[in-house]
Amino acid sequence: MNKQKHADIPEVDIVLWGAAGFVGRLLAAWLWPKYGASGDVRLALGGRKKSELEAVHKELKADDRLPLIVGDALDETFIDALTKKARLIVSTVGPYAKYGSTLVAACAANGTDYCDLSGEPQWMHRMINAHQEEAEASGARIVHACGFDSIPSDLGVLFLQTLAQKRFGHPMTDVKLRVKALRGGASGGTVASMLNVIEEIRKDPAVAKIAKNPYALAPEGMRSGVRQPNVSTFEYDKDIGNWVAPFVMAAVNTRVVHRSNALMGYAWGKAFTYDEAMMMGDGLTGRIRAAAFAGAIGAFLLGG
Ligand SMILES: NC(=O)c1ccc[n+]([C@@H]2O[C@H](COP(=O)([O-])OP(=O)(O)OC[C@H]3O[C@@H](n4cnc5c(N)ncnc54)[C@H](OP(=O)(O)O)[C@@H]3O)[C@@H](O)[C@H]2O)c1
Repeated sequence: MNKQKHADIPEVDIVLWGAAGFVGRLLAAWLWPKYGASGDVRLALGGRKKSELEAVHKELKADDRLPLIVGDALDETFIDALTKKARLIVSTVGPYAKYGSTLVAACAANGTDYCDLSGEPQWMHRMINAHQEEAEASGARIVHACGFDSIPSDLGVLFLQTLAQKRFGHPMTDVKLRVKALRGGASGGTVASMLNVIEEIRKDPAVAKIAKNPYALAPEGMRSGVRQPNVSTFEYDKDIGNWVAPFVMAAVNTRVVHRSNALMGYAWGKAFTYDEAMMMGDGLTGRIRAAAFAGAIGAFLLGG
């Protein structure tokens, strides 16, 4: 790693932090031509290996309007300086529980906006406890879980409830998300993050308790409520006429949706329920598929 002097960090609108990783490269390929190259947004690529950032810069055919910022996520002085030079940090450096806490702390302290793709509820819970008040005071907008975890769930419920308000004059009390098909696999960073969550849960009963609480990401004082449905094995869902099995991202997405409800002053009511599951089809085939899928998920979570 070639370390950059803190005084040399350029002032920009957005730092794409972790730009040489799997998601970082995808984001860079979208952000630079759409916003950076036009000069609308001053963008920088950040990460810990200069040579890898240079390779991304080359792939993008970018010019010197796209600076590189080199440093380590665990270097507190560097991260503090970085957050003082950017308006927004988009972080893809995970597992966040290992590499993300210093950055969130600095953003909250320095009033810098921040978003990530975290799917690690136990870590988000810690960050909310440690920094929500400070972020409110500094004006920093800290938004976790802006990836496939949990945008479709969070915005999907918002769109649905907005429509329900218009059509029926009130939001729905019970909402279900059912996933019919999924394409693509999990990236290396996602697998590392999932394994880290499982490891933390196994080691510490307090983390297991947080992971079980559907309201764990709500602000302090709002972390309980009505009993939530939870598809934890296979079952028949009469509403959709399908066998369903657990959806691997439900344990994150449901928490995010309940956080949004709480932050909006219970816009969907205190009795609001929300759950997620995978659709497995109808009839005997659907039942067998659901049972097999539920078994596979259970074995993965138990490390079997
Ligand atoms: N929510 C979702 O839908 C979703 C989807 C995909 C990914 N994710 C999450 O996004 C994160 C990134 O995933 P990914 O697959 O892109 O991972 P990745 O390919 O491993 O990329 C992570 C990047 O972070 C960098 N990094 C690691 N430690 C660092 C440090 N101390 N200082 C600075 N940079 C450091 C890595 O650099 P090196 O190469 O030097 O190690 C790499 O460039 C993961 O936490 C994953 O769970 C979420």
